[in-house]
Amino acid sequence: MKDYLSTSFGNDTVTTDQRKKLIRSVFKRVANRYDLMNDIMSMGIHRLWKWRFIREIKTTSGRFIVDLAGGTGDIAKGLISPGKTLCIVDPSIEMMLVAKNRLGSNSNYIASDAQNLPFEDNSVDIVTISFGIRNVTDINLALNEINRVLKPGGAFYCLEFSRPVFWLRPFYNAWSRVVIPRLGAWVSKNPDAYHYLIESITKFPSQKEMLSIIQNANFSDVSYTNLSLGIACIHRANKSN
Ligand SMILES: C[S@@+](CC[C@H](N)C(=O)[O-])C[C@H]1O[C@@H](n2cnc3c(N)ncnc32)[C@H](O)[C@@H]1O
Repeated sequence: MKDYLSTSFGNDTVTTDQRKKLIRSVFKRVANRYDLMNDIMSMGIHRLWKWRFIREIKTTSGRFIVDLAGGTGDIAKGLISPGKTLCIVDPSIEMMLVAKNRLGSNSNYIASDAQNLPFEDNSVDIVTISFGIRNVTDINLALNEINRVLKPGGAFYCLEFSRPVFWLRPFYNAWSRVVIPRLGAWVSKNPDAYHYLIESITKFPSQKEMLSIIQNANFSDVSYTNLSLGIACIHRANKSN
């Protein structure tokens, strides 16, 4: 697999260890303003994408749901339902504190990396990850872990930024490169953090590349749906029986 992100941070080349630390520091700094920034940067559209994502996940049966890179709890919040056990997994205590204040005991919270999951083999019904996989240093390792912990036939759902249709790209790139870092500087006082976010989006695999990455990680029934002309994308897959 092409090495998409593991040794880059913004425009800089870094070691994988440095990248991990820098990403931790980004989310530590932006945690308290993360939800507000999401609303401003996407003009609220991330709520529609997440609503669509959650609606689809809810059609899948299964009691034990793990939301990786769960952050401030947007996805877990939409999945709370009697009889389900939810677990947010995220290395950032600061992001999960925001989730804990919102969701309390409706979810469980585990500080961990998606590349090293603290669950038994074949123990989870559904794994979700929303705007998280591009922060993971080794996507293959994370997908192997997701595959390991899912029950046979279990479902994997991934929501992530992707490649918009060609005619939209110039506008989208201008918005990302000019407007977002300025908004980041103004609202969250962290322009570097938002510069990283944009770079990680542009370096992330396209929807088709991501599809084959997931297929190569031994998942079956892999498919995707573009959202907002490909600005974001939902991939879904099952662990082979
Ligand atoms: C952009 S936020 C997404 C939060 C939430 N899922 C949402 O959709 O709003 C990315 C999250 O990924 C987490 N993260 C960073 N590196 C990670 C890793 N290696 N494994 C799992 N989560 C990671 C960050 O701490 C952060 O909470």
